[in-house]
Amino acid sequence: MSFKAVFVAVVIATAFIVAALMINKYRPPSDTAQPSASFVKATGKCAECHRNETGAVVHQFERSKHAVAGINCLDCHKPVGNQEALDHMGFVIAKDGLTAANCAQCHKTEYEQYLRSRHASPAWAAVVGRDDFTAEQIAFAEKYHKGAVDRDPNALAMLEGPAATNMGCAKCHEIGRPNADGSIGKCTACHARHSASIELARTPATCGQCHMGPDHAQLEIYNESKHGVLFHAQHGSFNLSADPKALTTRDMPVPTCATCHLSGLDGQKVTHDTTERLSWWLFAPVSKQRPTFQSGQNAMKETCLKCHTTPHVERFYKEAEEVVVETNEKIVAAKKIIDDLRAEGLLTPQPFDEPIEFLYFDIWHYFGRTAKHGAFMGGADFVQWHGNYELLLKTVEMQEMADEIRERAAKGKRDDHASAAAH
Ligand code: HEC
Ligand code: HEC
Ligand code: HEC
Ligand code: HEC
Ligand code: HEC
Ligand code: HEC
Ligand code: HEC
Ligand code: HEC
Repeated sequence: MSFKAVFVAVVIATAFIVAALMINKYRPPSDTAQPSASFVKATGKCAECHRNETGAVVHQFERSKHAVAGINCLDCHKPVGNQEALDHMGFVIAKDGLTAANCAQCHKTEYEQYLRSRHASPAWAAVVGRDDFTAEQIAFAEKYHKGAVDRDPNALAMLEGPAATNMGCAKCHEIGRPNADGSIGKCTACHARHSASIELARTPATCGQCHMGPDHAQLEIYNESKHGVLFHAQHGSFNLSADPKALTTRDMPVPTCATCHLSGLDGQKVTHDTTERLSWWLFAPVSKQRPTFQSGQNAMKETCLKCHTTPHVERFYKEAEEVVVETNEKIVAAKKIIDDLRAEGLLTPQPFDEPIEFLYFDIWHYFGRTAKHGAFMGGADFVQWHGNYELLLKTVEMQEMADEIRERAAKGKRDDHASAAAH
């Protein structure tokens, strides 16, 4: 080859490379982020066919850590334990969908941590009671959460009926639903099916699917807190997919729900036991300290202390605990109104059949909880206007209602006497 021919060849080749690079720059990330041919091959026939059948599933899977690690479709979709098998295009897959048992094949530690939390059996029993659980499952959960699984079905769920319960309560509480294969729950509430995304799990809206609304306004409280405001303004520069075992305050200098409740930060231990860092039963009408009060509080404070000083954190806890104590007093006072009426025989024994019972339920379930959650997660407006103001207002309304009930009863008696005297 002449020198000239080589020169022309080099120029042409360079032009191609530059052009390819330039085109690549303008290709959407959905193109350039695609995996190499080698690991697409690892998913084999399933992906080949499902690219046409359910393309999104394949595209999500291809972007996941699982694809990078060489995990294939069948690793998850094959039946494990006593799961029923289904013949599917020459493969055997689990017939009735997948459960935590399929993930636990490779992620036993995460599953075991989750099993100890209230996200497991207690979440499902909160709606349907003990009936769906085996004796062993009840015994296991009761070791960690006494009375949280061995209990009756929820009265309100029973009154509202199965259609509302299925699409309402169950959609949030199925995070702890028992499966036919003996396992509890699915892991997809926070990770989704095919993306196995840590970033998704660390995003506040993921927890907010369930942790929102007036009875547990954690998402709204977070969004109003300094933490939430900073997160929303700055997360573009954070590394939300940092490896959990090496997460630092450099990756995430502002906490999300996951940071405080699950993540390991600067050497701290990651946990799927969302109960581990808590010290109070804030969801209860009158909040008491948990049996694990001290270890729970130490663990949460360890997280705060990655970013704050000791006096800052101690002051915060002291002020929040004062709100818990005061809220308890307000709920006890409201409860006395209703207890007295019942003792006087002026209310039926059934729950939720008299307006004053709804009012009392709202007082602790909405406003009391909101005040306590607001205090612990930095939501001033929730402690005040959505919490304490409503506590005051509803207690006055309850008292007036109680007076009317007594008056009506007394008038009923007078009328009875009058009509008896007339006969
Ligand atoms: C030759 C094509 C083909 C192959 C190969 C194939 N599938 Fe499918 N798969 C389908 C079709 C078609 C459906 C039904 C889609 C629908 O109902 O809309 C389906 C449905 C499914 C479903 C849903 C089942 C349900 O009951 O909802 C799963 C899960 C699934 N496939 C997983 C896999 C896995 C895992 C593999 C590889 C081990 C695989 N498929 C291989 C074509 C294929
Ligand atoms: C990390 C585990 C995992 C891997 C890997 C995986 N899947 Fe899935 N897949 C799931 C889970 C979990 C579900 C939801 C099952 C359920 O809810 O019962 C699911 C559901 C599906 C469905 C039903 C989707 C729907 O919405 O109807 C299809 C189809 C499917 N997978 C195909 C595939 C294919 C094809 C691959 C490989 C490219 C694959 N999956 C890889 C875990 C996985
Ligand atoms: C056959 C084994 C296997 C199965 C089954 C499996 N995984 Fe994984 N998973 C892995 C491996 C391997 C990794 C990569 C570990 C790494 O890179 O450090 C991983 C990583 C992950 C990660 C971390 C991703 C990240 O960005 O660091 C999550 C979350 C995850 N898996 C969730 C699930 C869920 C949920 C299921 C069930 C639907 C599941 N896995 C099923 C093997 C598996
Ligand atoms: C699918 C719905 C759902 C999602 C998603 C969800 N949770 Fe929960 N969570 C619940 C339910 C239901 C309970 C109440 C369980 C009980 O006490 O009965 C709960 C309870 C909790 C508790 C209290 C545990 C205890 O011991 O009292 C914490 C803390 C918590 N969740 C944090 C989180 C965080 C952080 C996320 C996101 C990373 C999250 N949750 C995602 C439904 C969900
Ligand atoms: C939007 C999602 C969602 C819906 C719908 C929902 N819950 Fe919950 N529930 C939660 C979350 C999240 C918690 C945790 C609150 C906390 O710890 O602060 C919770 C807590 C509870 C608790 C207190 C914890 C316990 O174990 O005693 C009970 C009881 C309960 N829910 C029952 C129900 C019933 C019954 C329904 C339907 C009538 C229902 N929930 C509807 C998300 C939901
Ligand atoms: C309440 C939400 C939630 C649920 C439910 C959940 N995870 Fe996670 N998971 C997370 C969060 C958040 C992280 C990231 C922690 C962090 O920030 O370091 C994570 C991280 C992981 C990792 C990576 C851990 C590591 O150290 O590299 C795996 C694997 C995983 N989850 C598997 C599972 C499995 C299996 C299940 C079901 C038993 C499950 N997850 C259920 C929220 C959840
Ligand atoms: C800055 C740290 C921090 C962030 C961010 C945070 N929390 Fe919390 N959370 C706390 C503290 C502290 C408590 C009270 C702990 C205790 O009981 O000692 C708490 C309590 C809770 C409880 C109440 C459990 C009960 O007993 O009723 C739930 C549920 C919860 N958080 C969920 C969330 C969710 C969901 C998010 C995001 C939308 C979130 N948290 C954001 C620190 C945080
Ligand atoms: C990952 C780091 C990080 C963690 C973990 C964290 N914070 Fe913060 N926090 C911040 C940042 C950043 C700010 C905003 C500071 C500013 O205004 O510049 C902030 C602000 C605050 C504020 C409002 C500003 C102030 O000084 O009054 C309070 C209160 C607070 N945090 C309490 C806590 C508590 C309590 C915990 C643990 C339950 C906690 N934080 C965990 C980073 C963190």
